[in-house]
Amino acid sequence: MPSIITATDLKKTYGKGDTAHEAVKGINFYVSEGTCTGLLGPNGAGKTTTMGMLMGLVRMTSGSLNVFGQPADKLPRDIKARIGLVPQEDNLDPDLSVEQNLYIYGRYFGIKKDVLATRVPQLLNFMQLEEKTKSRVNQLSGGMKRRLVIARALVNDPDLIILDEPTTGLDPQARVMIWQRLLELKKQGKTLLLTTHYMDEAQRLCDDIILIDGGKILDNGTPQQLIKNHVKAHVFDVTKPLPSALTRVAEGKTQQDINAEDVGDSVLFYVTEAGTPSFRKTIPHDAQYLHRPAHLEDVFLTLTGRNLRE
Ligand SMILES: Nc1ncnc2c1ncn2[C@@H]1O[C@H](COP(=O)(O)OP(=O)(O)O)[C@@H](O)[C@H]1O
Ligand SMILES: [Mg+2]
Repeated sequence: MPSIITATDLKKTYGKGDTAHEAVKGINFYVSEGTCTGLLGPNGAGKTTTMGMLMGLVRMTSGSLNVFGQPADKLPRDIKARIGLVPQEDNLDPDLSVEQNLYIYGRYFGIKKDVLATRVPQLLNFMQLEEKTKSRVNQLSGGMKRRLVIARALVNDPDLIILDEPTTGLDPQARVMIWQRLLELKKQGKTLLLTTHYMDEAQRLCDDIILIDGGKILDNGTPQQLIKNHVKAHVFDVTKPLPSALTRVAEGKTQQDINAEDVGDSVLFYVTEAGTPSFRKTIPHDAQYLHRPAHLEDVFLTLTGRNLRE
């Protein structure tokens, strides 16, 4: 599949001299056409900075970054029009109505009035906002504003959609609705680049994951590859106090190939498929535990640690 985005040794330093801060420290990645790629990392990882450089909103310090085969810092207008952006902060015009926000954006990109007259109602319908067509933006809930920003990003009918935390702070219903729409866009052949703090969302939507922290890429791959490479397939979440047989396993005093992690009121045991039957036998009958498959959140916390970020 052709690559829509290619980053090579991409760096960004904010400020100069004593206050200089290297937010992106030489990253390499690509995004293939028609896929959904997740850019995941804790706060301050450099995700928004990277997206800003893609849109030509943040000036790169060095390296190269190509979008549709052209340098991102000098994208011509017709290429920019092929990219839809959902910024991390909603930047709608609060005094305009829902539909006016879409019309003005469309006119900015030179889309003809009669095209907009069909497309705007379609997009409002697609994002379930048709009942709010005439409402002012400052009367919308947070979830509705987010949906409107997504609708606005689609006004140009873009081939590439960049979404910076599209579902942060939304209720579960709104998140599920947005997931359905993003999967629909992928089905239409669009390329998606997404950041999210919700690992279930990334696992559900993304074909490829780029894990970034402190401006560096920790690893990338499909969710399943990352799970396979960084954690074992099974997780036993055992409630404390740990039975003594398991304390020995947790301290690595047995021969079993098991990783244990204390997460406060319980201990997570990561166990291979093959090791699962014998591990289960070491759990006393009266112990409380939950057995589940490992997921992307386990990988994320294993690679980025459990300390709080900015
Ligand atoms: N305009 C700016 N000036 C100085 N530092 C910035 C600026 N924008 C972001 N940073 C810093 O760069 C780092 C990466 O920020 P950002 O790209 O927003 O991360 P993320 O989106 O992953 O949370 C952070 O340490 C942040 O404080
Ligand atoms: Mg950000």
